Amino acid sequence: MKVCIEKNYNQLSKLAADFIEDQVIKKSNSVLGLATGSTPVGLYQELVRRYQQKKLDFSQVVIFNLDEYIGLPANHPQSYRYFMKQHLFSKTNFKSNNVFIPSGQIKNFSQHCRWYEDKIRSFGGIDIQILGIGRNGHIGFNEPGSKFDSRTRVVSLDKTTIKDNSRFFDSFAAVPKRAITMGLATIFSAKNIILLASGENKKEILAKSLNGPASENLPASILQSHHSVTVIADKEAGLLLV
Ligand code: F6R
Repeated sequence: MKVCIEKNYNQLSKLAADFIEDQVIKKSNSVLGLATGSTPVGLYQELVRRYQQKKLDFSQVVIFNLDEYIGLPANHPQSYRYFMKQHLFSKTNFKSNNVFIPSGQIKNFSQHCRWYEDKIRSFGGIDIQILGIGRNGHIGFNEPGSKFDSRTRVVSLDKTTIKDNSRFFDSFAAVPKRAITMGLATIFSAKNIILLASGENKKEILAKSLNGPASENLPASILQSHHSVTVIADKEAGLLLV
């Protein structure tokens, strides 16, 4: 595992963008696994900037997003599909038929989850998976107690997650209580993983996940045994790693 501690969020975002840039230049039809939330916003801004400067072409890049809330229409401002459109897709040249985001509004969820797994495999797997980390150690929406061999499925969100994510909604009650997420084994199958962490409120969980004993109670600890993980933290999040 490689750990990079950057002096600020801007540097973290630029370094993450460097990894994506190298990957996309090396393989124009790269398969990227993307996350939502506050942490990758700077990375997406940086990718948009590099696209506008004509350094990057995303026309052949394939995207698989980690997760989606259940019950929000795709055009709801807090749906992850909307988030990705707003921050990245509407400002770059990703092709809509190369973008896959789990649907939170499907009738047959188990069929949809199997379809998502098959789709990832059909593109030869994910080249780089971007992750953020929840304060409870979740990655994607794999909450504590998620099995290390879990695959894409429907999950119930933890109270901590609902509370943390309520900052984006009008109230705690308005936050969806269930989501569809890639599983831990799905994430672990990615060829390379980049875990981003920013801010003081991530320093404890980041240190515990990377250095503490690996356990299903701490989902991010699965990353300790992956063959190619790069952790990019800013100073604040990396405080307990040095
Ligand atoms: C988002 C996701 C989550 C977030 C995590 C951190 O697609 O899968 O695991 O990465 O909740 O969120 P932020 O970045 O908002 O602190």
